[in-house]
Amino acid sequence: MIKKAVLPVAGLGTRFLPASKAIPKEMLPIIDKPLLQYAVEEAVREGINEIIFVTSPEKFSIKNHFKKNKKIESTLIKSGKQEIAEKINNKIFSKVKFYYINQENQNGLGDAILHAESIVGKNPFAVMLPDDLFFSEKSCLQQLIEIFSEKKSSVIAVNQIDKENIHKYGVIKPDKISERIMKVDDIIEKPNADEAPSDLAVCGRYIFNPLIFEHLKSTKPDKSGEIQLTDAIKSMLIDEEVFGTIYDGEKFDCGSKEGFVHATIALALRDDSINESVKKIIKDIV
Ligand code: UTP
Repeated sequence: MIKKAVLPVAGLGTRFLPASKAIPKEMLPIIDKPLLQYAVEEAVREGINEIIFVTSPEKFSIKNHFKKNKKIESTLIKSGKQEIAEKINNKIFSKVKFYYINQENQNGLGDAILHAESIVGKNPFAVMLPDDLFFSEKSCLQQLIEIFSEKKSSVIAVNQIDKENIHKYGVIKPDKISERIMKVDDIIEKPNADEAPSDLAVCGRYIFNPLIFEHLKSTKPDKSGEIQLTDAIKSMLIDEEVFGTIYDGEKFDCGSKEGFVHATIALALRDDSINESVKKIIKDIV
């Protein structure tokens, strides 16, 4: 039912400079795979077959990464490295259509999503922020899709955040329906800890009805000149119920250095080809 996903990747990635000067932050690897590929794989596994990247002209390596490279593939096959060749042109992407739209000025996440309107059209769609890396038995996207199928209303994933970090996120005022599902009564972008309506912060997966575009168009830029997605969701609450669900699984915030290192260590410890030596390295360091 949800066939399109918008992945906003036009941000400047200032927290990763100078690494992100010539290599998009989204292309930095967690072990051996660019961060962005984890989100794309999550989408494709849940049946999404149109991926819309909102990007910038400097980030041409993203397009190179997701297009087929027959030359390297055949060189590897000729030298008997079939297994490695499969990693070049991942089979699961063969039926996926990738779109690239440029966001000329980095006017915020809301503005980035609005750039995808003409391709999304009148369909419900997913928004996935690749900085947030999720690992769970049932993917975060699938958890949202199940609620969307039942409610036919926009759904956002939330998770609990401690008081000293809550000011970094969009925070919801929940009206609890069940242990994990709630109606969003209000949503506030980056509140002070004392003004936060709960400890439930928005994390990087959403399903929206196309109505969100109308609210993005009428959302005014904040004091730093950015159009905030949170403000558009708040405005949409007048016209449509929005639901939240507490994501059930692990999450790494790879937009921050600590989160990026955390994800790298966690995944290294799960990789059979390196976990024993990584354990030894960590033990030696500590
Ligand atoms: P972030 O603010 O976390 O990412 O935006 P950033 O701006 O790239 O990183 P820092 O804060 O400077 O280190 C969340 C997501 O929204 C995208 C980013 O690429 C990221 O995926 N984004 C943000 C846009 O596509 N356009 C924007 O104008 C802003």
